[in-house]
Amino acid sequence: MLSSVPAREADAIIRLMQVFRDDPRPGKIDLGVGVWRDAAGRTPVMRAVKAAERRLVETQETKTYTALAGDPAFHAALAGLLFGPGFDLATMAAAATPGGTGAVRQILELVRLADPATTVWISEPTWPNHPAIIATLGLPVRRYRHLDPATGGIDRAGMLADLARARRGEVVLLHGACHNPTGADPDIALWEEIAALLSSSGAVPFVDMAYQGFGAGLAADAAGLRLLAARLPEVLVAASCSKNFGIYRERAGLALALSPDAGTRARVAGTLAWLNRQNFAFPPDHGARVVTEILGDPGLRADWEAELTAMREGMSTNRRAFADALRAATRSDRFGFLAAGRGMFALLGLGPAEVERLRVGYGIYMVGDSRVNVAGLTPDTIPVVAAAVARVATAG
Ligand code: LMR
Repeated sequence: MLSSVPAREADAIIRLMQVFRDDPRPGKIDLGVGVWRDAAGRTPVMRAVKAAERRLVETQETKTYTALAGDPAFHAALAGLLFGPGFDLATMAAAATPGGTGAVRQILELVRLADPATTVWISEPTWPNHPAIIATLGLPVRRYRHLDPATGGIDRAGMLADLARARRGEVVLLHGACHNPTGADPDIALWEEIAALLSSSGAVPFVDMAYQGFGAGLAADAAGLRLLAARLPEVLVAASCSKNFGIYRERAGLALALSPDAGTRARVAGTLAWLNRQNFAFPPDHGARVVTEILGDPGLRADWEAELTAMREGMSTNRRAFADALRAATRSDRFGFLAAGRGMFALLGLGPAEVERLRVGYGIYMVGDSRVNVAGLTPDTIPVVAAAVARVATAG
């Protein structure tokens, strides 16, 4: 039986992690997987996370099962972060999941249960997990334009024209903040237009929120989502705590749906819990509990926000320094858009052969579509990477 299992490759991001690990060159530079790094190239445990973990070790009295949907206190804490304090939770159904990918998967399973023929619209380009999970579930997929390759910013007209074709009940998967892979986010005026389009068509937004706090600030990064939640009867969300709490391997995520009425909300809540039971039964709890502890304690929360702010500012400093170094190295403004992007990702706009030359010739690793993790840059590596990019980009 097992001999008929088809071969399957890991996706481009995961493959790259392995190739990087296997590269013996001491000066290799990892701009691949989306993991935040400090100026020394480390990914330390955040201070508030350490403190909350210490507290849990001291005070936690049991490790018995939580509910199938996880701890309701986690749902409420994360909803407060996503929608702002005072948000009415009465319309919300949620289930904790293993990380943000787990939440994407559970929400798309929910969509399939609602209607297996539902089309899911995804941005062009997007993160490889989106099309992969949609294909695995057998849902029809369509693409909407996101990036304008000429400017490195959003193709507003193309995006709105494509989204105008989404029909009632179809699902539009949007990146909440710090678009992966481009780093080009809608401004609030564009979010308004998206909300107006979806409101008139009846298509349902599904917001993948994995980088809240990495762009412009916790509230600013959620402004688009909050606008959708205020205007539309149904909103789906996959939230991740991997990046903004730095608890990647703990797998803390939340699948969340806002419903138009109490009966629907109850069925959605029951279905999300049921889906957890089908796929893994109880969700991981440690990371979720750490997050709940931090968000519920003013001291820990303030310290977490301060550290998150420093991370965000570091990424934006890197973006500007990288754009400046590339301007000097290429004597052009070709990469000027980098400074305008947000969060950890930017798409350099290089071809696969150039990306390969950077890896083979210079030990510089980025995803094959030329996505770089700007948090992987340091003051020492910025000029090195800029010089190498300039060389491969002009080598033709
Ligand atoms: C990334 O895009 O690099 C991260 O979100 C890691 C992943 O799971 O793909």
